[in-house]
Amino acid sequence: MFHINDNFCKLAESYLFSEVARRINAFKDAHPDAEIIRMGIGDVTKPLCPAVIAAMHDAVEEEADAASFHGYGPEQGYAFLREAIAENDYHLRGIDISADEIFVSDGAKSDTGNIGDILARGNRVAVTDPVYPVYVDTNVMGGRAGEKINGSWDRIIYLPVTAENGFVPALPSEVADVIYLCYPNNPTGTTLTRDQLKVWVDYALKHGSLILYDSAYEAFIREDDVPHSIYEIEGARKVAIEFRSFSKTAGFTGVRCAYTVVPKELKGYTADGKEISMHHLWNRRQCTKFNGASYVSQRGAAAIYTPEGKAQTREVVDYYLRNAEVLRKGLIEAGLEVFGGVNAPYVWIKTPDDMDSWRFFDMLLERCHVAGTPGSGFGPSGEGYIRLTAFNTYENTVEAVKRIGATRFD
Ligand code: MLT
Repeated sequence: MFHINDNFCKLAESYLFSEVARRINAFKDAHPDAEIIRMGIGDVTKPLCPAVIAAMHDAVEEEADAASFHGYGPEQGYAFLREAIAENDYHLRGIDISADEIFVSDGAKSDTGNIGDILARGNRVAVTDPVYPVYVDTNVMGGRAGEKINGSWDRIIYLPVTAENGFVPALPSEVADVIYLCYPNNPTGTTLTRDQLKVWVDYALKHGSLILYDSAYEAFIREDDVPHSIYEIEGARKVAIEFRSFSKTAGFTGVRCAYTVVPKELKGYTADGKEISMHHLWNRRQCTKFNGASYVSQRGAAAIYTPEGKAQTREVVDYYLRNAEVLRKGLIEAGLEVFGGVNAPYVWIKTPDDMDSWRFFDMLLERCHVAGTPGSGFGPSGEGYIRLTAFNTYENTVEAVKRIGATRFD
């Protein structure tokens, strides 16, 4: 008789966004005429930009000819893309990251989930709360979360980020071995300044901790004091792995392409205290379990770094940022308390009269036909909030604000 990984039995019945989709679909079935504006999962609505499309067409043509066809590519990604990333995302910002420290993948969700493969089960893991559910759920699967007691996992260290602390996590009282930080933040849409991020790099240097820095929303940063990469902070090469994605930057949610940076200086420790290169371990893991993102996707991703690609993707990100501004301003005018949405595609809204998150989710869906994501789905400190995304069309965003502004929630 074989046995399963029992940790999976500890997980909630379905992943947050699957549950949200299930509820929206049930509402749609019951009200087929309702014009629902979907602002739940952060999926993009704009098509791929022309520079990406042209590069992908060319790549498809190459695949049609035996002389230029590509079979298995390098597990770490093609040099043309790794070099473009190193040059544009790092060197042009004065950051020291080399092409061979970059691992191209099919998504930041996969990489932030898979990184646990190379981490011991005994590590104490800290997450900001609310948090992108992948970090917590994959640590549950890996046996690092302990038991769920009153809505919290007893081995996870929660770092609350709420309106009360200005969405800046305080250092934990227990030592955290692994710390997940996501900035610009999903789900709150808030950011840290360089000085605020430095506090975490210094903490990790002092305690020998590892920071897993998810920077999937980097392209949305518009304010000067917000760091684009954790490696802008001195010492970060010794303590941090950075995850980035083309999903939100360039509409790759369906195409799939992302990357993870593992600096060569970053060392982990064996149970008997021996130092091991994390770059070596991740490379070993990827070579064994991953055959690389597709050639066509990687050619498309490389086109984002051409002058046309840069201008076209910036225009799309600006479009979503304008939606975020419409949401932020409009909902504040409607009397709601709203956070985020300045350097991020998410706005984080306090529910009226401290209503619980799922109740407000239902009310928005039933009374306004607007679908969000309940804050409590992102963790205990998300209770009393709801998240809306700026990834819908401008017209739908204006319409959603109009509907919400015209509704009473009592
Ligand atoms: C979200 O809505 O939080 C994201 O779209 C989820 C993801 O990137 O996997």
